[in-house]
Amino acid sequence: MSELKIRALTEKDLDAVVEIDRKVLGKPRAEYWKRKIGLADIYPRPALVAEIDGDVVGFILGYVSGWEFGVPDTVGWIDTIGVDPDYQHRGIGKRLFKELVENFKRTGTVAQPEAKNISIKGVNVVYTLVKWNDWSLLRFFHEVGFQKGEMISLELKL
Ligand SMILES: CC(C)(COP(=O)(O)OP(=O)(O)OC[C@H]1O[C@@H](n2cnc3c(N)ncnc32)[C@H](O)[C@@H]1OP(=O)(O)O)[C@@H](O)C(=O)NCCC(=O)NCCS
Repeated sequence: MSELKIRALTEKDLDAVVEIDRKVLGKPRAEYWKRKIGLADIYPRPALVAEIDGDVVGFILGYVSGWEFGVPDTVGWIDTIGVDPDYQHRGIGKRLFKELVENFKRTGTVAQPEAKNISIKGVNVVYTLVKWNDWSLLRFFHEVGFQKGEMISLELKL
């Protein structure tokens, strides 16, 4: 494989992210990603892409909790991860995840789409949510070290 580079996601990566998301999810969500990547909100949002020979082949988006659900601001969340199906099973997801964790652990500024003066305290635990029967995603998160967490999910059907 040519050299894999992990770098901060920028707004120029929008089309590539939309295309990878379409391939893994099966439907195009251009407007969703446009808003999400340009999001100027209260969260530190480290976001990275994986690049091979100048082509974006994967991405990972995280954010640091703002005490929602009583979760403190030392908790990082994995929001979305996606690797182009043509490049899966080559360790790219793992590399993206590890680099995101390094961003989370840092105190100070983080790699996020827009350079805003949002600082990060230094995250000491990472949360994510996975559908209970999404075996491949569960296997991936297990592989990078996740265990069953302390939060429980509740739902009320309407
Ligand atoms: C999950 C995903 C990011 C993994 O990316 P990847 O680059 O293929 O992952 P890696 O090659 O780094 O795999 C690391 C380990 O995870 C596990 N793994 C990854 N994909 C797997 C799969 N489809 N089935 C079972 N295990 C898997 C394996 O144990 C793998 O190690 P191995 O290849 O040595 O066996 C990728 O499959 C993907 O984009 N899936 C769709 C993502 C999605 O649904 N996102 C929306 C919610 S966040």
